[in-house]
Amino acid sequence: MNNSDQLKHNVAKEAVKYVKDGMKLGLGSGSTMYFFMKELGERVSNGLKVIGIPTSNKTAEWAKEFNVPLADFSQIQELDLAIDGADEVDPNLQLIKGGGGALLREKVVAAAAKEFLVIADESKVVENLGKFPLPIEVIPFGWEVTANKITALGCELALRKVNDQIYITDNGNYILDCKFGRIQDPEKLNRELQSIVGIVENGLFINIASKVLISNPEQVKVME
Ligand code: 5RP
Repeated sequence: MNNSDQLKHNVAKEAVKYVKDGMKLGLGSGSTMYFFMKELGERVSNGLKVIGIPTSNKTAEWAKEFNVPLADFSQIQELDLAIDGADEVDPNLQLIKGGGGALLREKVVAAAAKEFLVIADESKVVENLGKFPLPIEVIPFGWEVTANKITALGCELALRKVNDQIYITDNGNYILDCKFGRIQDPEKLNRELQSIVGIVENGLFINIASKVLISNPEQVKVME
């Protein structure tokens, strides 16, 4: 395992301690969550009873692989705990998420949870959000118009592509990766983005995280 994976694994091992028997979980997305799903699967095989709602098709695949029971929102509407990774975390626990393209379902799941636990390694901690391009999910219809309105807020953006093909989210939408540079006021930018028609959701997670676990080579620290 390389150093980066080791840090992800360490923080995942710590996070799984927050899971208690009988909990209804929100299961985030991304490579750090892969290690969490593996650890959770191990606890399930030792008798832990949980049920989880996945935030992406990939996480649902991992749940299957590690025998973690899944549910959907037709069965449960309130979650005890959601666990997820992040692309940036600031000192006020505000986040940028969506590097993996799952931000919409991640936000819906986080909003349904009593607690939202974020797991990351120290490379994700920043003084100010914005170095990581902010992912914004938009509907394909008229995305060019939506993009112009976002650009007017002061960013350069790119339509996300993978292997020269437009990236399509699990919800059938597009992602615009928006370089704002240093975001002075994340709450204000979030409000401005929410008012633009055509945007489904943006990757700013404002006042949503309850606790952030951060791993460095020596330890896992708690930010709250
Ligand atoms: C996906 C996300 C991920 O949580 C975020 O990109 C972090 O991923 P990783 O653990 O691979 O660094 O928001 O939409």
